[in-house]
Amino acid sequence: MLDYLNGTRTLETDILRTYASAPGKVILTGEHFVVFGAPALAIAINRRIVVGVNQRTDRRLHIVSSLGKSGEFEQDKFNLEEGGPEARDFLEPVRIAAESVLKRYGANKGLNIQVNSDVPVASGLGSSSAISVATVASVGEAIGLNLSKEEILDLSLTAERFVHKNPSGIDIAIATFGGTILYERERGMTRIEDMPNLALVIGNTGIARNTGSLVESVRRRRDHFPSTINPLIAAAQALTGSAVEALRARDLEKLGELLDINHGLLAAVGTSCIELDRLVYAARSVGALGAKLTGAGGGGCMIALCSDENLVTVSEAIRRANGSPITVVKTEEGVLTWKEN
Ligand code: MEV
Repeated sequence: MLDYLNGTRTLETDILRTYASAPGKVILTGEHFVVFGAPALAIAINRRIVVGVNQRTDRRLHIVSSLGKSGEFEQDKFNLEEGGPEARDFLEPVRIAAESVLKRYGANKGLNIQVNSDVPVASGLGSSSAISVATVASVGEAIGLNLSKEEILDLSLTAERFVHKNPSGIDIAIATFGGTILYERERGMTRIEDMPNLALVIGNTGIARNTGSLVESVRRRRDHFPSTINPLIAAAQALTGSAVEALRARDLEKLGELLDINHGLLAAVGTSCIELDRLVYAARSVGALGAKLTGAGGGGCMIALCSDENLVTVSEAIRRANGSPITVVKTEEGVLTWKEN
């Protein structure tokens, strides 16, 4: 439970009035290929970002993150308070998300924004998208708008495009709507109902990476070798279709095998690394039904699909291979907003 949700932490100088939270995610199949039009399958997880907002009497945006970064934006000026030289880049997406709401609705207001994160950053679990979605929703609430989920999604994409230039939109969609979604760039998302609960272990390599540059590196590889990479995109498309069928049929052995194949496709487009491979093979070697990197790769996290019986064994194998295991469950809750009083 995040500490200020249960009242044990408040900002000394601010009374936070509106809140929004949004979930992190894991992509089960299809990341990267989704940028080129293939479908991808994602689930929201029970790790959330919470953003609290109240209005100020001036026009400044004061942003505090629970990760030890804070500062104040006044037009193009940034006054650093905490977190060193990288604090500005870290807080900038929050500012952009907040301003996307203020600008669209002509609200010329200053805000105090506090971001609390329970989702590991830069690790493939959708923290930056959940921050954008929760910021947009909380700011909307603070200035008296009743934003629909579709509006929150649209406004959040502005901030996502700042963080990485060519997003497919899947991370924003899952942070907004929660549950299990099948996402296609052209058609948007289809919510998949009645999915089984999956026993998943996430293994975090602890290596931070940048989604935008990984997406760009896959695009370059595809430009260099279109006749080799295009069939892999088609294979990923078929694979996600089979994964949905396997889920619907509760066939977890088949789903596991598809995750293994998906890892191979992602390695072929250059998004795995030795640390991820170590965790993937460690999980498989102790009986995981399947394992693959999740999200952008290049570090960050992998997922292992387990049976209820071998969840602990797989977690231990991941730890022995230098990863940090995290057990998560699916959540149906997308973005949520509430007021303090
Ligand atoms: C990152 O979580 C998912 C990627 O497919 C990028 C995107 O879809 O925007 C790597």
